[in-house]
Amino acid sequence: MESAIPAHLVTERTEPVAHPPGWQPPYPSFVARFAPSVTQVAMAYFGVQYRAGSEPPIVRTALAGIDAACADGPGHVDRARYVDEAGYETIVRIAYWDDVSEHERWFATARELWLSDRHSCDEAGFFVEVLRPSTSRFETLFSNDRIEGVAHLAGTLSGEVREHAYWGGARDRIPLAQRDALEPAAPPVVVDDGVRRVVRGQHNLCLIRSGQDWTDTDGDERRMYLEEVEPVLRAGMDFLREDGNAVGCYANRYLRLVDEDGNTLDKSFGMSWWRSLADLDRWAKDHPTHKAIFGQAMKYLSTLGPAARLRLYHEVTVAAADEQYFEYLGCHPGTGMLRAAALDQAGAR
Ligand code: HEM
Repeated sequence: MESAIPAHLVTERTEPVAHPPGWQPPYPSFVARFAPSVTQVAMAYFGVQYRAGSEPPIVRTALAGIDAACADGPGHVDRARYVDEAGYETIVRIAYWDDVSEHERWFATARELWLSDRHSCDEAGFFVEVLRPSTSRFETLFSNDRIEGVAHLAGTLSGEVREHAYWGGARDRIPLAQRDALEPAAPPVVVDDGVRRVVRGQHNLCLIRSGQDWTDTDGDERRMYLEEVEPVLRAGMDFLREDGNAVGCYANRYLRLVDEDGNTLDKSFGMSWWRSLADLDRWAKDHPTHKAIFGQAMKYLSTLGPAARLRLYHEVTVAAADEQYFEYLGCHPGTGMLRAAALDQAGAR
């Protein structure tokens, strides 16, 4: 059994771990292992939104442009789509990098392209949401050996890790949390309110991407996922999307991954911005929707063990203030971190 924290990031703990002494998880899980030379990564979300129904021509042109840019640079790119709380169809590209100076050079051009004057129109809105966390500020967890998301940048997966299958495991896997409580600072605020709206994030803002892959399930397991687990997951995602602010969730998206031709895959993920890791932990531990899906997952991961074909993974980041960038062109005010900043201005927090 390995520690989820790689040897080169182990420091003396001043913060407690949540698992009991001698903890043995009831089922295996793994984490991405980055080479010690990787000290920081970038996760850049490029989104385009339009009123669901008819896709304006500018969307195709813009996506072709960002796809061309993504073909030359990022270590990994994901494509996904969702309909947001205001009924806007939204298509995203997520570009992952393990070299942040390379990313910054690339991003200057990609940002200009994505948020250019040519994209300023009534039919569509464009956004970029970027985190550049140091490797001590995020963690991953996989129920199996199929790599997703940021883990594509890692050399390999670990062997079975100790810090999982109990509440507080995510915090215990974040290297910086060994000696930092990761408390949130002042809330997000709009700092540039021109045609392009720039949001200054928040120190220790938290992002989770929590994924589900039912590609390989069949028979009873597929039925159980689609009929028993997915509706509960959807209810949790709807709750966070509509009412998440009550529990510290600034914005939530429930996305389906798509392939290069836009075909929907049997893979989804929740992606949400949180005021703090503590708020996210609390929702996972206490809210009936996640409690219910956690209970289901425990039941069959423990029973099926490595034979389970439903694959689960997540990546959780707690970003420093200078590791964040948010910019919106022509987006509705409920979009992503614009929504978080509006909550603050409305005194709703
Ligand atoms: C079908 C969907 C899901 C299933 C089956 C599921 C199941 C689980 C399981 C089994 C764990 C424990 C993992 C471990 O430590 O071994 C877990 C942890 C967690 N899940 Fe989910 N989950 C799902 C979706 C989500 C989503 C969409 C989110 C957030 C947007 C989320 C947030 C969390 C968090 C934050 C933890 C870590 C809690 C902690 O360490 O204290 N989950 N989930």
